[in-house]
Amino acid sequence: MSLALIAMLFCLQDTTMDAAIEKADKAVAARIAEAQADPSRPRIHFTAPAQWMNDPNGPIFYKGWYHLFYQHNPFDSQWQHMHWGHARSRDFVHWEHLPIAIAPSPELGEEHIYSGSCFLNDAGKPVITYTSIGPNREPEQWSATPRDDELLHWTKHPHVLDQSANGSPIAEWRDPFMFREGGKTYLLTGGGRSGRGVIERYEAASRDLLHWRHLGVFFTYPDSDVGNIECPNIARVGNLWVLLVSVRGRVEAFVGTISDGRFHFETRQALAEGSYASQIFQNTGGRTIYMAWVNTGNHKTWNGYLSLPSEMSLTRDRHVRLSPVAELASLRVAANEPANPCEIEATVHGGQRLTIELGGFEMTYDPMSRVLRTNHRSVALSRPLAKLRLFLDATALDVYANDGEAVLCDHIDNLAPAAFDLNGLSNIRTWKLQSAR
Ligand code: FRU
Repeated sequence: MSLALIAMLFCLQDTTMDAAIEKADKAVAARIAEAQADPSRPRIHFTAPAQWMNDPNGPIFYKGWYHLFYQHNPFDSQWQHMHWGHARSRDFVHWEHLPIAIAPSPELGEEHIYSGSCFLNDAGKPVITYTSIGPNREPEQWSATPRDDELLHWTKHPHVLDQSANGSPIAEWRDPFMFREGGKTYLLTGGGRSGRGVIERYEAASRDLLHWRHLGVFFTYPDSDVGNIECPNIARVGNLWVLLVSVRGRVEAFVGTISDGRFHFETRQALAEGSYASQIFQNTGGRTIYMAWVNTGNHKTWNGYLSLPSEMSLTRDRHVRLSPVAELASLRVAANEPANPCEIEATVHGGQRLTIELGGFEMTYDPMSRVLRTNHRSVALSRPLAKLRLFLDATALDVYANDGEAVLCDHIDNLAPAAFDLNGLSNIRTWKLQSAR
């Protein structure tokens, strides 16, 4: 094909996608006023402007902005028609919604744009790699590159990787995640082989990150009854690697090392119970910031939000600790009584059973089993509960126990009358939180 013809085809493809995005943005805009007025919609947590969202996608810091993309159905408040929504922030807290970044291309046999990541290529330009789903074909990994520095308009590069790269096909092959190790850029995918959950690794075969070479299995999920795993992420934290995988509604963190082309883990834990399909900001000056999807029930004009952005660090015994980013403190307003939204910090006297009420949520702690429980989530702590930090935001609750060694993300469908009973907690500090919207 001549270069002129290729340029014309790209141009045609861009125009077709721009038209699809305009239609999708209009569908979202038509529901924004109603979604905004819904008191059950979180005000501190990230949500789409209206309609359905699930996984965060492709978080990246670029030209002074934290860009965040996410799985989005612009046409309804339930899962369908996956697009990539787009927002940006200076501080992880206040997000500016931008037009949808990429829409499916039915003329290229594409029905959904599934999850993926965004990474800077050797020229310092962002490249998205995502899973392209079509009605009559195996999943493929496609890319997109921006036409502007605001990352508003993207050009697709179809068929960057297909199953022919894999030797034998991988089941549920999706969610490409790019990262750098030892001066090379790699891509991980989730999926399954022979009934076991696996992560495959590929190495960049060109500086523009549009060509990849299959290396082989990087990680096999230890439990043999799990047939596939979703949304792998990996980051260097301290002097170890943290591998996150999403399996059956939970994110799990494995802490370990990479050698001989494989990931070897030393510890394993559930991370932020109630959150799923995580993504991490990796190019934020030494910080690795975790965000993941919290599934909600049947709200009419919106569904899905993201857990509060939290910085990952390691405990002395090599487990992942999550701490809400310091920037969240900018929302604090002094208050004596808990409001909604609010933040509460407190200490807990060891040894006593705890039952507290928090605007519709009930939280209990049993010192015998060390189980901390909210309405729908629970976690067994490795040490007695000594410290709690809570964020209540409309129907969303995030609980950080013992400085983030255990985290719970819970959601209730209906806002109950705001009853608060904090008996059993001491040194309580409460802040009303301003809306971040
Ligand atoms: C995780 C997931 C991903 C997939 C996306 C589709 O929630 O199933 O594996 O890419 O959602 O929306």
